[in-house]
Amino acid sequence: MPRQAYVNGRYLPHGQAAVHIEDRGFQFADGVYEVVPVHRGALIDEEPHLDRLERSLGELRIAMPMRRRALQLVARELIRRNDLRDGFIYMQITRGVAPRDHRFPAQASPTLVMTTRRTKPHREALLRDGVAVITVPDIRWRRCDIKSVALLPNVLVKQAAVEAGAYEAWQVDDEGRVTEGSSTNAWIVTGDGTAVTRDASQAILNGITRLSLLNVIRAEGYDFAERPFTVAEAKAAREAFLTSSTSFVMPVTRIDGAAVADGRPGPLTKALRQHYLDYMAGQGAADRQVGG
Ligand code: PDD
Repeated sequence: MPRQAYVNGRYLPHGQAAVHIEDRGFQFADGVYEVVPVHRGALIDEEPHLDRLERSLGELRIAMPMRRRALQLVARELIRRNDLRDGFIYMQITRGVAPRDHRFPAQASPTLVMTTRRTKPHREALLRDGVAVITVPDIRWRRCDIKSVALLPNVLVKQAAVEAGAYEAWQVDDEGRVTEGSSTNAWIVTGDGTAVTRDASQAILNGITRLSLLNVIRAEGYDFAERPFTVAEAKAAREAFLTSSTSFVMPVTRIDGAAVADGRPGPLTKALRQHYLDYMAGQGAADRQVGG
């Protein structure tokens, strides 16, 4: 079966799936999205992702296009039709189609699009050597907690990273403190072995991987702190890594061209990556048990 996408009630061949030119997502980036990992056919952290989706929609006063349970059924049907084992499902909801006018339309039904993507296992070299990040000014708006499709600053800094031969760009606020990556959360491990990531606020997207990893860290009894850290502190850190639904836990070994510690992925980073992979495998098993 060719790859399929879901658009407003219909499953279509991916190449034919489209929304109207006056969709407010296209005109104004007036919409939100989620990226939910799929591991061995099971959705990982489905409920927290849907909680965040509903929260983002609520902040923008966009209605859920259907009840949560129905959305979950569509997601499962799309995974089934695409025979997806490992990858992710992408969900995007916009305020809908209306004649172009900045104000909210009086009548518009939200647009719902879902697609799936297969992913390959992370390249061995990335895990063995770690990845490089560059630091860049954070030029985004002040509601980065909303998972909005308005990603132009994120696109620009990611491109800057790629052009610098780096994997990610860590954005930095006016006080010299790291906010987050273009599509990942940023972490360091301090000299005393504490895992540090910025506290959740309107300055960052509260990553679901970030939250799940914090739970793992708590359960395993590692030291952690949720607070901002500066670029200088990151460069002097014992270890660094980043998290997201597609990178999981990825070691960071270079910041702005300089090695983090000895330039090798650190022991806590490696342990946390393994704990997170085990956590994903456990989630998949639980999902299959309830027949999800
Ligand atoms: N990005 N910060 C930003 C700005 C993000 O866009 C993302 C996710 C994260 C990590 O969140 P999570 O752990 O829930 O994936 C942090 C997704 C993967 C993307 O845009 O593709």
